[in-house]
Amino acid sequence: MSNSKNILLGITGSIAAYKAAILIRLLIKQGVQVKVIMTPLSKEFISPLTLATLSKNPVLVDFFNPENGSWNSHVDLGIWADAFLIAPASANTIAKMAHGIADNLLLTSYLSARCPVFVAPAMDLDMFRHPTTSQNIEVLKKYGNIIIEPSTGELASGLEGKGRMEEPEMIVDQVLNSLPAEITDQQNILKDKTILITAGPTREPIDPVRFISNYSSGKMGYAIAEALANRGANVILVSGPTHLSTRHQGIETLMVETADDMKALCDKHFPNCDGAILTAAVADYKAARHSKQKIKRNDTRLSLELVTNADIAAHLGTIKNENQFLAGFALESENEEGNALEKLKKKNFDFIVLNSINDHGAGFHTDTNKISIIDRYNKIHKFELKKKTEVASDIIHFLEKYLTS
Ligand code: CTP
Repeated sequence: MSNSKNILLGITGSIAAYKAAILIRLLIKQGVQVKVIMTPLSKEFISPLTLATLSKNPVLVDFFNPENGSWNSHVDLGIWADAFLIAPASANTIAKMAHGIADNLLLTSYLSARCPVFVAPAMDLDMFRHPTTSQNIEVLKKYGNIIIEPSTGELASGLEGKGRMEEPEMIVDQVLNSLPAEITDQQNILKDKTILITAGPTREPIDPVRFISNYSSGKMGYAIAEALANRGANVILVSGPTHLSTRHQGIETLMVETADDMKALCDKHFPNCDGAILTAAVADYKAARHSKQKIKRNDTRLSLELVTNADIAAHLGTIKNENQFLAGFALESENEEGNALEKLKKKNFDFIVLNSINDHGAGFHTDTNKISIIDRYNKIHKFELKKKTEVASDIIHFLEKYLTS
């Protein structure tokens, strides 16, 4: 199999377009094949000739070549690419992407892309912090695009602030780190494995308008699901309610609300899986009675009787066979390692990923996490604070080593 990666680079109308030349050189140095699509306006900022020479491929701007009528197929480009990087991404292109507007080749290619899409915004600070831009960026995130946050610094306008496109070295690192490593099929232990992932919170209804839940965002579980799918695994992602979505072809997403629903799907699918990683923050308790009518306010106290939910992990731990692996998470606030060790044993995990809410930047709401992995020999492997996508790669590498040891 060929190990070289194909990256489609989309360039839009921004002063930062000059940095596209550096991006291409860095990517080519890493052995990546690069094809460039430019929006018509971006040609005013950097010449297609420069980019065609650096990328060693003709630069694409129009839907067809007016000289000979040949067609630039956005569908073929979308299939060719292992990743689509849009850098710089202007406020205008971000807005069009968020709303499905398809009036140039870059945008039609975006809509056709089946691969991960990375978006590196570049604009003036006021444009970047305008609520419209913020909302459009949130929409793109929700659709599973990966936003490479701009940095703070001097802007083309002469103002200082957030909106500067991230430096090319950092962009290249982030894109290449998220792609499958260059390994052969024989070495890739995860290829064609079927892996169950649970993610997000569960919601336990109290009445038709109220529920018990928690702050889990699902980001860690979705990042692991995508990292596994990038390695060629077939992922069954059982997700509680989140704002996330994934378009990865290797992931079948099954949405649930309650712990009981999550358990039913896990019990159904786990026997046909090679293993599971349980990242969901399953509500420990549910209302003993679910009122069919909205509970009315009155002047007396209200007591809610709660009963425990089934422990999905512990159940899978009892039915797991010797060819399957089972890994879980522990989010702790005190006696972290002791509690995690206890869960490792109690739930029959092969390893457990520990994060502490006492670590700044770790836990539910953040895009970063700081983990330790405890293996079944009680050995603790510690990792630095990293982006959740990088943490997912660390967990996958650990899993690969575990499966081949
Ligand atoms: N888990 C699960 N089903 C549950 C509770 C937890 O599958 N009902 C899984 C989680 O997905 C995680 C691991 O078990 O992988 C540990 O979850 P955690 O909530 O930390 O453990 P609990 O056993 O609920 O312990 P506690 O909340 O008391 O810390």
